[in-house]
Amino acid sequence: MPAIPHAGTRSRLAWAVTGSGHFFDESLDFLRGLSDVDLFVSKAAAEVIRMYKSRLPAEIRIFRDTTASAAPVGLFYEGVFHTLVVAPATSNTVAKFVYGISDNLATNVFAQAGKCRIPTIVFACDTAPELETRAPGGVVKVWPRRIDLENVEKLKRFEDTTVVESMDALVDAVQARLACLKKSSS
Ligand SMILES: Cc1cc2nc3c(=O)[nH]c(=O)nc-3n(C[C@H](O)[C@H](O)[C@H](O)COP(=O)(O)O)c2cc1C
Repeated sequence: MPAIPHAGTRSRLAWAVTGSGHFFDESLDFLRGLSDVDLFVSKAAAEVIRMYKSRLPAEIRIFRDTTASAAPVGLFYEGVFHTLVVAPATSNTVAKFVYGISDNLATNVFAQAGKCRIPTIVFACDTAPELETRAPGGVVKVWPRRIDLENVEKLKRFEDTTVVESMDALVDAVQARLACLKKSSS
């Protein structure tokens, strides 16, 4: 385990990326402008990064999904993080969140953030009955299934969880959270 920075001060933002091509680069571009962020990368996200020839931000602490127990989640118990952002979130990850499954790094950070009452912002990307998404070969049309859409609605009812459905809403939600933290610390 790496050394724990600022343990107990809740001074950092945890950000998890999953294997969604939809808004992957856009989410990372926004993340690059933030400070005091640690990045959690699901196995599928690591593959998608290679397929799209995307780049993870340099000079940022990155936790990869290499342990069965999701060992880095210990940081959530140490009071390191004030907020968790999951962006972008695949339909698979949203479904696991909704049914309380925590079997990989992204689902574990969500579960542990919830158990530690750390506010979470989830960018669910497959949220319209018909949408255009980016495949490695170009833009394609997809039709998220009823269960995908229903799971997003169920996630909106989770405690301490804000679900956003667009890049603009993600930016607004993260900035509002950071502004709220700044105000309460001044
Ligand atoms: C190139 C590529 C793009 C993908 N884009 C999406 C996407 O936009 N939304 C989605 O729900 N799944 C997408 N997937 C499928 C997920 O990566 C797959 O369901 C994976 O198992 C999700 O794992 P995770 O939720 O642990 O990250 C994509 C897969 C590939 C190969």
